[in-house]
Amino acid sequence: MPVTAQDGFRVERDAASGVATITLDVPGKLNRVPLAARRLLADVFAEIGDDEGVRAIVLTGAGGTFTAGGDIAAFLGATPEELSRLAWNVAAPERCPKPVVARIEGYCLGVGLELALACDFRVCSDDAQLGLPEVGLGMIPGSGGTQRLARLAGLGRAKDVIMRRRRITAEEALAWGLVSAVAPAAELDSAVAEILGDLAGVSPLALAVAKRVLNHVYDGPLQLGLEVEGFAYGMLRSTQDFREGVEAFVEKRAPRFEGR
Ligand code: COA
Repeated sequence: MPVTAQDGFRVERDAASGVATITLDVPGKLNRVPLAARRLLADVFAEIGDDEGVRAIVLTGAGGTFTAGGDIAAFLGATPEELSRLAWNVAAPERCPKPVVARIEGYCLGVGLELALACDFRVCSDDAQLGLPEVGLGMIPGSGGTQRLARLAGLGRAKDVIMRRRRITAEEALAWGLVSAVAPAAELDSAVAEILGDLAGVSPLALAVAKRVLNHVYDGPLQLGLEVEGFAYGMLRSTQDFREGVEAFVEKRAPRFEGR
């Protein structure tokens, strides 16, 4: 089911580049994310994940900001059971077989940072502010933020950000390994394009399998991870892309990957 317009965000696909762009867009409200939009975002990531015309996805925000977070007032209208399952929808970029780049400028707060942390790559402008300020609202980051930030940046830093509501500057985000690159706002698109360029020339199937292996076992036991990696590598051996990659190297030509 192709989805083209939603409450709080829009989706555009560029057939020539194979890049789909999801833009959080709520004018005048700093792109706050309604609860319904989280469900729809998960549906969109699943649908784009199955679209063979899409090679990579960019998640961004309109109007110079990523998002100031979840729609705060709406939380009182949700049931405790619904709120206890928020992380599933926000994990959609992680489940998606396509690589996902978060293009961040301005505010990247609350569910904005949680969404970004579920993406594969983050690039931010030098004026970006990242944070998880939920304890100030009597909540905690409930869509994966406590877990992914601690795993990516370390427990001590995650406690500073979450328990003291300390905002992360772009410079810190780079130093902590939270973002791949920082650029002036005017050069943010070029920084994103550089990552997309790296992803464009390789096998989409190998990319999807690498993402799956990395995401599923990076915090598990090493021996289990090595087994999963081995099985995944063995599975790729029977794909056309694997054969094409090896043959193209031997024949000294550029490979033509078809994702099969
Ligand atoms: N949910 C709902 N509405 C939000 C919002 C959110 N997370 N963040 C901003 N808005 C709305 C504001 O209510 C305001 O709407 P109004 O003009 O109708 O009153 C509008 O967006 C602009 O926000 P404003 O606070 O006036 O801008 P600012 O530049 O003074 O401050 C922030 C920017 C980001 C510091 C401030 O908006 C803020 O603290 N937002 C909440 C951040 C947060 O706690 N996120 C986690 C949510 S779980």
